[in-house]
Amino acid sequence: MNIVLGITGSIAGYKALELIRLLRKQGAQVRVVLTKSALNFVTPLSCQTLSDNEVYIEQFLLDKGIKHLSLADWADIMVVAPATANIIAKAAQGIGDDLLSTTLLSFDKPILFVPAMDTRMWENRIVQLNIEKLKGLGYHFLAPISGPLASGKIGKGRFPEVSIIYKKIVSVLESYPTLRGMKILITGGRTEEDLDLVRVITNRSSGRMGLELLNAAVCREARVRAIFGRVDVHLPEGYDIIQVRKAEQLLNQLKKNFDWCDCLIMAAAVGDYRPEKASSAKFHSQRLDISFKKNVDLLEVLKRLNKKKIVVGFSLEPGSGLKRAREKLLKKGLSFIVHNPIKAIESEKTEATIVRPQKRPIHIRNTTKWRLANRILDECLSEWRKIG
Ligand SMILES: Cc1cc2nc3c(=O)[nH]c(=O)nc-3n(C[C@H](O)[C@H](O)[C@H](O)COP(=O)(O)O)c2cc1C
Repeated sequence: MNIVLGITGSIAGYKALELIRLLRKQGAQVRVVLTKSALNFVTPLSCQTLSDNEVYIEQFLLDKGIKHLSLADWADIMVVAPATANIIAKAAQGIGDDLLSTTLLSFDKPILFVPAMDTRMWENRIVQLNIEKLKGLGYHFLAPISGPLASGKIGKGRFPEVSIIYKKIVSVLESYPTLRGMKILITGGRTEEDLDLVRVITNRSSGRMGLELLNAAVCREARVRAIFGRVDVHLPEGYDIIQVRKAEQLLNQLKKNFDWCDCLIMAAAVGDYRPEKASSAKFHSQRLDISFKKNVDLLEVLKRLNKKKIVVGFSLEPGSGLKRAREKLLKKGLSFIVHNPIKAIESEKTEATIVRPQKRPIHIRNTTKWRLANRILDECLSEWRKIG
């Protein structure tokens, strides 16, 4: 993957250095183009060292070749991160008055802007109109997140974490269809139940499947809310994520948010049992006998709310387990269910079968959780289109 990374004059410029590192780690070749304003925030030497490539600033040099054309020929994608309101305006007007803007004009492959700016700039109607115009012309955007800004205020305009920018680049290059307009509620991670004051009973789910669903849905421009139990992965900052511990808390949050969504994807590994009585002390006895009772089935409860929604369940069973997945699908009235083998737990790689009512199952082998997440979202999109 060859990437021209444009860095512009934003205070978030220093974070682009982390992005270069990540892209290199993922095996990408990176050539950095800096605007004159960007030189106030990052040094060409840092960019050159981290990218292990020449850094480009000047348009008019007594070098052989025409830089903006050779860069445009070389790259598979152009990423402008951080993108100032100024470079977005120039791209929207077709202005080419420096190397970066002229390379953007010469580039006929995918272009991704990752804007970062103060909330007042971000909410400026002209900035938003420029973005709408560029989106309409097929340019890609990863929206800024909410959080603390350089001004000391809290608001929208913050540069997203580099891990999600990387996912967005992959998403653009893999040409996944947009989910714009869809409201998706995702659960992920594992629940736990108290045994005594300090000990819990839980399961081995890492939360990676839920995370990849969140990443993929954000990158494909859905509106996303997520409810996570405990996880072993880093959840990106700046997104609408609620964290819970117990199955009951997850159910309460689901009831609060279910109305909002068009589509619920239940990737959380919810404990089936909880102790009949959790001790408020700490156990010290030689032998411990705890009896458990069944937790409520969250999807059964939601089904009783009788809302017309796309609801996706997960089923993790040993062996083929397809029969049980199909039983669950019908009993819970799901749109479809994703059946995973036990080895999928805690692992980066996975395989799955998507079981749909009255249709042939789709077998997906030797895939990543990112790819599977996108496959599940494709299926949700086609269900959503049917609903109209
Ligand atoms: C300290 C400082 C921080 C800035 N941060 C941003 C920013 O985050 N986003 C933005 O759009 N403009 C920001 N600006 C304004 C741009 O640097 C300015 O519009 C400049 O002309 C952009 O040039 P460029 O798009 O060619 O890089 C900042 C300016 C200063 C002085």
